[in-house]
Amino acid sequence: MSIVDSAKAAAQAAMQGAMTRLVPLAPDRWIPGGVPDPLIRHQHGLIGKPVSRLDGALKVKGAARFATEFPLDDMVYAALVYATIPRGRITALDTALAEAAPGVVGVMTHLNAPRMNPPAMFGTSPAAAGAADLPVMQDDRVHWNGQPIAVVLAETQEQADHARSLIMATYAPEPSTTSLAEAKAAGLQPGMFMGQPLRNEIGDAEAMLQTAPYKVDHVYRTPRHNHNAIELHGATIAWIGDDLIIHDATQLVSAEAATIAGVFDLKPEQVRVTSPYVGGGFGGKCLWDHQILGAAAARLVGRPVRIALTREGVYRGVGGRTLTEQRVAIGADADGHFRALIHTGISVMTPHNAMPEAFILGTRSGYAADSFKLSVETVTMNMLANTFMRAPGESVGTFALESAIDELAVELGIDPVELRIRNEPDKDPTSGLPFSSREIVKAWRSGAARFGWDQRDAAPATRRDGEWMIGLGCATATYPYHRMPGAAARITLRRDDVHGIGALVEVAAHEMGMGTATTTAMVASERLGLPFEAVEVRYGDSIIPGAILAGGSQQTAAIGGAVIAAHNALVAQLLKLAGNHSPLAGLSADQVGSDNGGLAKLDEPGLRESYASIFDRAQCDSVVVAEAAAQPLELMHWSMHSHGAVFCEVRVNTVTGETRVSRILGSYDTGRILNPKTARSQFRGGIIMGIGMALMEETQFDERNGRIMNPSLAEYHMPVHMDVPEIDVIWTDIADPHTPMGAHGVGEIGITGVAAAIANAIYNATGKRIRDLPITLDKLL
Ligand code: MOS
Repeated sequence: MSIVDSAKAAAQAAMQGAMTRLVPLAPDRWIPGGVPDPLIRHQHGLIGKPVSRLDGALKVKGAARFATEFPLDDMVYAALVYATIPRGRITALDTALAEAAPGVVGVMTHLNAPRMNPPAMFGTSPAAAGAADLPVMQDDRVHWNGQPIAVVLAETQEQADHARSLIMATYAPEPSTTSLAEAKAAGLQPGMFMGQPLRNEIGDAEAMLQTAPYKVDHVYRTPRHNHNAIELHGATIAWIGDDLIIHDATQLVSAEAATIAGVFDLKPEQVRVTSPYVGGGFGGKCLWDHQILGAAAARLVGRPVRIALTREGVYRGVGGRTLTEQRVAIGADADGHFRALIHTGISVMTPHNAMPEAFILGTRSGYAADSFKLSVETVTMNMLANTFMRAPGESVGTFALESAIDELAVELGIDPVELRIRNEPDKDPTSGLPFSSREIVKAWRSGAARFGWDQRDAAPATRRDGEWMIGLGCATATYPYHRMPGAAARITLRRDDVHGIGALVEVAAHEMGMGTATTTAMVASERLGLPFEAVEVRYGDSIIPGAILAGGSQQTAAIGGAVIAAHNALVAQLLKLAGNHSPLAGLSADQVGSDNGGLAKLDEPGLRESYASIFDRAQCDSVVVAEAAAQPLELMHWSMHSHGAVFCEVRVNTVTGETRVSRILGSYDTGRILNPKTARSQFRGGIIMGIGMALMEETQFDERNGRIMNPSLAEYHMPVHMDVPEIDVIWTDIADPHTPMGAHGVGEIGITGVAAAIANAIYNATGKRIRDLPITLDKLL
């Protein structure tokens, strides 16, 4: 780091520190969301109504064009060769046979790849998207078993796939760490997440644990997981002169474009990334080597390139969730009051990335306790960079914490729902901040009633149906509320032949199947006072202003904040345009909102003028505004989270050890639900992932050589229809007064808590406590 960079970083840190101290003390009205959005009270328009996905019909008809379906003239197809050692050098790479194979247009290796800068790593700046800070195919070094070492380009995919099999590599291996035991022996580092240490200590938790009359203290283990979206990662890439266009499947078009511009020394506006549809992402559809390799190869051969990873390619080159070992210890009084809450452990990373599993984040605000000791430490292994995946941190953190609470409930002889409610905090127990909205007790009570929790027998192994043992379990679900900086929206209000007046709303956001395009149109049409059909939404294109990550379950809030800001700017502009002859003359923008095809005074809706009338008088046909969302200071002023309670029933076979989940209910408190149809689907999808995490999913990592051994859906097991029961989902629908639209994220909370609820139900069914995921049948026999 240069002196200038260090000075900048120090100044930023000081600023950050000052903000962290001052923002909590600031009056609410200075904070975004501090004066609640008037639309939260009205809840008009389609908000809260089940609206079908706008992209649904296109997808069903096969008319939605995905990243690797863009047809470009003169396009060549890419296939990758992957290193087979975890660390070392390539000493020879024989490409002659491949180059001579039918249809081959070129082979790119480190010897002929264009010179490129390493990608800026995610988290190092708002526009950085790289998964790691490693150079991409720039030298003979191998950093993980599976690293791409050659790109074959051919006239057809089949020709490329054949030619890649003809490439021979020889290596000079170097010492590497591929076993967990060795990694631990080499030392632990303090875990950092988004520039903050993963550590909290309040009181002397170890001492208070020792003196507590009741206690549990156990270690829980979670394995590696890989991303298995239906749509494989891939991109169609072309250079147009010195400009680059990438049709990609990605969760961050703008940051990806900026990062790739940095890789090729281009100006940001020279790179355009589009991503109209994403066939599932879950954190892993971001920037990996294949987009950079595809762009480099396209430059090398002077033709557009389609690079579509195989399923194996996704395992070799796209990181997943890393493994954790977590200790949870709780000391309690006889009435269940927590004296000490300890949640510590390790997460594995590589020397080249910055993404530990931050498994204590949910614990920080989950329960009240007299003392806390929370920490994540990291160890280093030579492997592919891991990344955020399906509620990073909380998925695995809630498995450990919520299993431990169940174990404590057994020790105490207190019902586990009751035990949780008895330790409900009245403010955030580690930050001290007030909760913006927390109705988790309601979620617990209504979930328990609907599920029939009172039918449960607390004594384990007491219910049987033939050779099946039956048990019930529950756990808390939690995921933080986020709204990341950088979001913007552009609104074009315009005359329109069908509706008279319509709007185009553009956000640099993403549709991964969760319903973003639809919800954005609902939110924007409500705000603009226009019919749903009169609002066209464009997204998934880096030429749109702003940067919105489809991640951290924050996209809807980020879009909401941006649309609110752009709408405010639009109102101001329209008032100017309306002039002195308008009924609204003399009012300021904050006194006016949109309503029924025009502007109206907020507290006197009769005082109004239609958009058409304003346009007529001003003799204009359209108005365009682009505006950035307010800085997300609310996150420093309140403790903000989505909450939920998961209940399930399992049947464990006494002969085979097989577990079937027979009933499952998620009861959520996630603010206002904007679109119940897409939200329900999000919750259910998350719960299904949770079933996979509990019972099946595990990346098999060969500790001798760091190679992933099950890179296919035949060997990496995930739930199929037969594994999934009816999933019941309910919610409180209580708006958070301090978020855009009163909503919280619903994307990732669904997976959280599920693995613990299932493990707890398995204990209730069998009396066996499994602390090591996945709970496969061998562990129950
Ligand atoms: Mo989520 S794993 O942050 O896309």
